[in-house]
Amino acid sequence: MRIIDTHCHLNDVSYTEDLDSVIEKCRDTGVRACFNTADSLPSFEKILSLAKRYPGFFYSVIGIHPEFAMEKDDYFDEAFSFIREHKSEIQAIGEIGLDYHYDKSPKTKERQKEIFIRQIRLAKELSLPVVIHSRDADQDTYEIVRQEKPPVFDLHCYSGSYEMMENYLRLGLDFHIGVGGVLTFKNARVLKEVVSKAPLSILLTETDSPYLTPTPYRGKRNDPSYLPLVIREIAAIHGMDDEACAEILIENAEKFYGIEI
Ligand code: NI
Repeated sequence: MRIIDTHCHLNDVSYTEDLDSVIEKCRDTGVRACFNTADSLPSFEKILSLAKRYPGFFYSVIGIHPEFAMEKDDYFDEAFSFIREHKSEIQAIGEIGLDYHYDKSPKTKERQKEIFIRQIRLAKELSLPVVIHSRDADQDTYEIVRQEKPPVFDLHCYSGSYEMMENYLRLGLDFHIGVGGVLTFKNARVLKEVVSKAPLSILLTETDSPYLTPTPYRGKRNDPSYLPLVIREIAAIHGMDDEACAEILIENAEKFYGIEI
């Protein structure tokens, strides 16, 4: 089975000790490429250096996570000029978006929206796809996407409803949803419904490693070698053969990021 992890954080400190053996385990499982995704300015350099150290295996998605939206303006000036300067080494802008889980204050929400919009506009300027993080902010995320119309985008670790997915489909943009370990959880009723009704062509496989490890390894550190558990679940939901399903998912990821593996 050939596999692409469209969203992970193997730059995380939890892999410092054993990254080479994690990569070997991933390659043995069929993982061909992983997209390391930034959250903050200090993560940018590390992600690009990993892509240089493992060319053709690691790729880079660079952007500022909404958790850091309260940083000062010069932080964003620095981040945006880094992105412009390294454009040729970057496959997408992400993860960017809205996260109201910990801070629901109007001031934070407004700032998150402002930074989200600025990063979508940057992605459009640079003709890059957008990887979106949305947590407890479904409606506001949708409103911004509807207004700003990023031509190619992924709602990573999709946690919205089936109705919301239909709203996105109706926008007529190149829209994708990222599906990972959560699909294997017992209580993933809504996500299973979403995956069953979604056109297979919009699904992207992701781990969000080191988080969200699939059942039966839930609670352990995640890595892309667990992705067959997610792919088998998608294949079962769609009543398909695992291998055929994996090939479609590979094609989706290649098209989304504009790469060939
Ligand atoms: Ni993530």
